[in-house]
Amino acid sequence: MNLPHALQKAIVCLNNGLLVGVPTETVYGLAANACSEKAVLRIFEAKKRPSFDPLIVHFASFEAVKPYIDLSGFATEHLKELMQLAQAFWPGPLTILLPKSPLIPDVVTSGLPHVGVRVPAHGLMLELLNALDFPLAAPSANPFGYISPTSAEHVSAQLGEQVAFILDGGRCDIGLESTVLGLEHGEWTIFRKGGLSLEKLHTVLKNVRVHNHSSSNPKAPGMLKSHYAPRKHFDLLHREALLEKETYAPDVFFLLFEKNLPKQSTKQQYLLSPNANFSEAAQNLFAFMRLLDALPACKSIVAEFVPDKDLGAAINDRLRRAAAQDEPKTNLSK
Ligand code: TXA
Ligand code: MG
Repeated sequence: MNLPHALQKAIVCLNNGLLVGVPTETVYGLAANACSEKAVLRIFEAKKRPSFDPLIVHFASFEAVKPYIDLSGFATEHLKELMQLAQAFWPGPLTILLPKSPLIPDVVTSGLPHVGVRVPAHGLMLELLNALDFPLAAPSANPFGYISPTSAEHVSAQLGEQVAFILDGGRCDIGLESTVLGLEHGEWTIFRKGGLSLEKLHTVLKNVRVHNHSSSNPKAPGMLKSHYAPRKHFDLLHREALLEKETYAPDVFFLLFEKNLPKQSTKQQYLLSPNANFSEAAQNLFAFMRLLDALPACKSIVAEFVPDKDLGAAINDRLRRAAAQDEPKTNLSK
């Protein structure tokens, strides 16, 4: 096989238990051999991620997932739905929590009996997964609690020293992390809203519950409220409230959906999608948050809620978490 040089380099690093920044259609991941406890521990160390926060494992296909899960206790109806989900949405931005087989080390799932699995829809990442004889554990490639990276540059800016190599696969198509879905009390439940919308899930599953996250007892710690946060002060308001205020200080910058605020200088305003397109808004969200966080002229950020449908629901979820950084953290030490 004649693989591009960069791919070969990533393969050598991963075969040697090292960390590699990898592209996916959602966000960049910080990947290691999911079957090597030692390699997986390096991920937690590099991200400064608490050991209670489990990792998603990435595979080249649903066929490849099978040895790593144990569906013996699954009801027939759930098995059928699982097959339909895999067929409809893999490769794609959907992570499914499934009972793990002993091939997945406990450190990957933080001791939980389920493992989050997904097949990413990214050509280079799929080539990489096909070339390896183990799956890849990979959280988003950002320091714990910070905004997820949607380009190779974002990864190198923050974790450049901790990774052996970054496989550059361009800008992420979707720009939001995967939707995390699992069974709770026998019902399909969304534990994290993400790149696959509820509307699309409904085309396969009649009933899907949305788990309301709680920061005191997170089942999936990515549900912690103050994830994805920029370091600057971040407020989130409805447009009506934003329009009411006459003027803001010149060092307040705005993260808006489609339209400028007429009373503020346009220089202070960043539009996620001037065409009101949710995919475009999702793709820009984290990049704009990072840009504003780094911009010297910007002291604080004010964002507006986007319409709460389609990918807008996941965008609002991330905006809420970013704004939650300034709330008192009674149950959290970050
Ligand atoms: O799009 C994505 O999902 C990206 C790319 C790299 O695939 N990955 C990602 O990983 O966002 P991470 O670790 O940043 O977020 C994974 C989320 C966390 O909220 C974690 O707690 C939850 O999934 N999770 C993973 N495994 C789990 C498990 N076994 N049980 C419950 N929650 C789990
Ligand atoms: Mg993350």
